[in-house]
Amino acid sequence: MAERVIPLVDHRTAALPLPRAQTPVAAGTLLDARARPLRDLRISITDRCNFRCGYCMPKDVFDGNYAYLPHAALLSFEEITRLARLFVARGVSKLRLTGGEPLLRKGIETLVAQLAALRTPDGRKPDITLTTNGSLLMRKARALKAAGLDRVTVSLDGLDDAVFRRMNDVDFPVADVLAGIEAAQAAGLAPVKVNMVVKRGTNDDQILPMARRFRGSGVTLRFIEYMDVGATNGWRMDEVLPSADALRRLQAEHALTPLSASAPGETAERWGYIGAGGGHDPALGEVGFISSVTQAFCGDCNRARLSMDGKLFLCLFASQGYDLRALLRGGADDAQIDAAVSAIWQARANRYSELRASLPPDAAGGSRRVEMSYIGG
Ligand code: GTP
Ligand code: 5AD
Ligand code: SF4
Ligand code: SF4
Repeated sequence: MAERVIPLVDHRTAALPLPRAQTPVAAGTLLDARARPLRDLRISITDRCNFRCGYCMPKDVFDGNYAYLPHAALLSFEEITRLARLFVARGVSKLRLTGGEPLLRKGIETLVAQLAALRTPDGRKPDITLTTNGSLLMRKARALKAAGLDRVTVSLDGLDDAVFRRMNDVDFPVADVLAGIEAAQAAGLAPVKVNMVVKRGTNDDQILPMARRFRGSGVTLRFIEYMDVGATNGWRMDEVLPSADALRRLQAEHALTPLSASAPGETAERWGYIGAGGGHDPALGEVGFISSVTQAFCGDCNRARLSMDGKLFLCLFASQGYDLRALLRGGADDAQIDAAVSAIWQARANRYSELRASLPPDAAGGSRRVEMSYIGG
């Protein structure tokens, strides 16, 4: 068993200094220090979750004594929407709500409706999406669609009920998540994606059953390499199943052909199922591989993350963020917030996954790294 490091510093109370010079930056798309534009804002709206996946919120840390943030610390829907509007004006075209489990936040449909009313500088509605464990989708899919949500991504780590119950560690039945996925499809939250985190020796035997289940179903299944994100999951390289291995297992049963990226900076490498005609058959669909460990994709990473208490993080593996809530609640006007966000993005040089292999174990603040349940996937 790997030694587990419990952080001594609560990353949620520390923050990086906001840029001092609040000089306005000319309107338009922002590029960071590595010429990467800002396109994708992931907004974590709660630090709570009803699951206890060992790779994300292990039970022994996230137990009855864990200090979740009080409601007053969370950004209100109005505060979130105000920030999102400024980000969209700066070129963000995809907004993703995450958590914890975002569907646990009361009134989420109201937030979705507020975000759905935003427009990009060229007049388009931003793509509004949500990452969920699916447990509440059966109840909420239709209302979310009606509020303006475009699509959902459901985390699901296996089809075998016993394996799934062990992975979520709260004995949640797989059938309810599968019903949630169907409810999302029926509500038109398409294309529904399913994310499966693969841990060697824990659920890698689920790769083929999952592929069989979702091939031709309209759902895009993506395999995610288990990542060393956060500081509490006891990550070990020998529990990572490289995507190349997962692909090989899949190819032993299904003919697949590589597909080109559908958007710049995409996390997943796409492979399409080959049909009777010899080429990719869209009716059979595709699978994706998200290989942050074996094949970093920082080169065109266009993602920013906003925590539920208003901190802006420039990388999934950051240990601190920038406290935008202090600006919001300190009376800053839109121009001042925009200037701060612009300066922060323009100075960004993060590329943790690319550097991982060459870093000593604690170099990126390993034991202080923020939890994924705090800044979202
Ligand atoms: P789509 O627009 O639906 O394709 O979404 P996406 O692939 O941008 O995002 P999604 O939230 O579905 O991401 C899938 C998984 O990829 C996450 O749960 C993370 O495990 C991982 N991931 C997402 N973004 C990053 C990133 O910036 N860096 C790293 N290392 N992993 C990421
Ligand atoms: N490695 C890879 N993916 C992770 N997620 C959470 N923790 C990890 C990790 N350690 C993913 C979940 C979910 C999203 C919220 O983040 O699968 O899809
Ligand atoms: Fe909850 Fe998702 Fe984390 Fe699992 S991965 S504990 S479902 S937030
Ligand atoms: Fe982006 Fe950081 Fe992930 Fe690299 S490790 S892709 S910079 S979030």
